[in-house]
Amino acid sequence: MISIKEALLYGTKELKDVVDNPKKEAMILLSFILKKDNVYIFLHENDEFNFLDEYKEILKRRIAFEPIEYITNSVSFYSKQFFIDKGALIPRPETELLIDEILKNIENKNKILNIAEIGIGSGIISIILALSLKNAHFVATDISSDALKIAEKNINKFHLKDKIELFQTSYLDNISDNIDILISNPPYVANEFKIDKSLEYEPKEAIFGGEKGYEIYKNIIQIAKEKNVKLLSCEMGYDQKKPISLILQEKGFKNFYFYKDLAKLDRGFIVKNHSLL
Ligand SMILES: C[S@@+](CC[C@H](N)C(=O)[O-])C[C@H]1O[C@@H](n2cnc3c(N)ncnc32)[C@H](O)[C@@H]1O
Repeated sequence: MISIKEALLYGTKELKDVVDNPKKEAMILLSFILKKDNVYIFLHENDEFNFLDEYKEILKRRIAFEPIEYITNSVSFYSKQFFIDKGALIPRPETELLIDEILKNIENKNKILNIAEIGIGSGIISIILALSLKNAHFVATDISSDALKIAEKNINKFHLKDKIELFQTSYLDNISDNIDILISNPPYVANEFKIDKSLEYEPKEAIFGGEKGYEIYKNIIQIAKEKNVKLLSCEMGYDQKKPISLILQEKGFKNFYFYKDLAKLDRGFIVKNHSLL
């Protein structure tokens, strides 16, 4: 029998050549198995560890590059904990910038707003916005029933069932609501792009956007035009500013800008179609 401390050392050693921070990840996995926080683990490091088989099993998954978020079914986004599973893309830190950029453009946070999100995935964007915009109503779509189940779980966790309506459909097909703000973090990687091993665990429909990757924006921008939305906001690939600018110009939009991520890479755009909200 080994102690909790020895289990931590064992996990750290197993992950040494696989991840950037083996001790931290071994600790997260240990804490997941024990259902206890780090403080408990430190205070009980000499206790017997009775879950070696389960621990070895999840270490094996991590060694095979399965993202730790899928193993623990948990992800932190915008300082909140969300449920996550293989059916939905793992939220990325840069998507927090999309939310910040949207909120920056809404002067009156109490305004009654209709917001639509195309491709809700795990639900993070609509949920964080719904928590900040008390009088906003959301319609959110996804083509993936698995992603919608995960979004529903998170929506229930944050008690937002009355504010966020989910639809399994492509884009906003069959949704006739008036929309003030349209949001999307769509799949934008080119189909042929060779992705990392860890990305292979994530749903293909959440990653690949078509031959060039940016095709999906043509449809989203067209929808924004047809629905005459006041604000359109999307995340995009770092190298897509040029083609997206052209699409926006072709569709007659003039008032738009691109924002950068923390690495100073182009990461998304905002189109303001009407006077400030
Ligand atoms: C990049 S993920 C983003 C998920 C989530 N919004 C986020 O930011 O983490 C894109 C999502 O769009 C969905 N999707 C792909 N094509 C779609 C389409 N034509 N209509 C609606 N959703 C779509 C995928 O299933 C996936 O959940």
